[in-house]
Amino acid sequence: MNENDRRDHWEKVYVDKSDFHLSGYEEVPSASLELAEHAGINSASVVIDIGGGTSRFAECLIDRGVRDVSVLDLSRSALDANRSRLGLRGKDVTWLVADITTWKSERQYDLWHDRAVFHFLVKEKDRAAYLDCLNKAVKAGGHAIIATFVPDGPEKCSGLPVERYSPESLSVTLGEAYKLLEYRFDIHVTPWGSEQRFQFSLFEKRKDGSATSGR
Ligand SMILES: C[S@@+](CC[C@H](N)C(=O)[O-])C[C@H]1O[C@@H](n2cnc3c(N)ncnc32)[C@H](O)[C@@H]1O
Repeated sequence: MNENDRRDHWEKVYVDKSDFHLSGYEEVPSASLELAEHAGINSASVVIDIGGGTSRFAECLIDRGVRDVSVLDLSRSALDANRSRLGLRGKDVTWLVADITTWKSERQYDLWHDRAVFHFLVKEKDRAAYLDCLNKAVKAGGHAIIATFVPDGPEKCSGLPVERYSPESLSVTLGEAYKLLEYRFDIHVTPWGSEQRFQFSLFEKRKDGSATSGR
């Protein structure tokens, strides 16, 4: 799937469905918030939610006093919906309409969060582009939370094929520059009652490590 097809697919998902009907939507992103706390998030942290869509992760960070939050997604409709839900509380959020496989970050972040985006990258070239972006965008000593379906989880998400990971295989994919600090398993139940098994891994970007990825 190329960048245009990907954008059209997700625009259609968000235009056609309410939050409730998006299979992966969480009322409270508990595992992400728990790992963000372990990463030492505080009001001065600079955070980006990759493929944040209409997720409440940004909102929960704002509620915890985090002032510098960015949300990136290739769907403008999703970001517009998220922005309107937040209203004035979201006035300081940076909304970035971009595809993570071609985006060039202009700044560095303390925390990179991605729930259910990396696993859609089933082509080696797209994964390499994502990892290059991650390497450039996360500060040395900063953190990344990446959540994907687990190896025995669903083979598709929102109708698209996914690459599934364990915390260990994701760690190998990210490479030596990232230390796996912690992980959680979580079962998300979709609005129509099927189970999506996720792993959430928290990585620290080594201060001294080279930023070459393992892939
Ligand atoms: C399964 S949804 C997850 C949304 C959100 N992270 C959550 O946990 O509720 C995947 C999201 O990633 C976005 N997305 C998919 N591929 C992307 C890409 N290559 N670059 C940026 N966003 C992407 C979609 O528009 C969608 O909002």
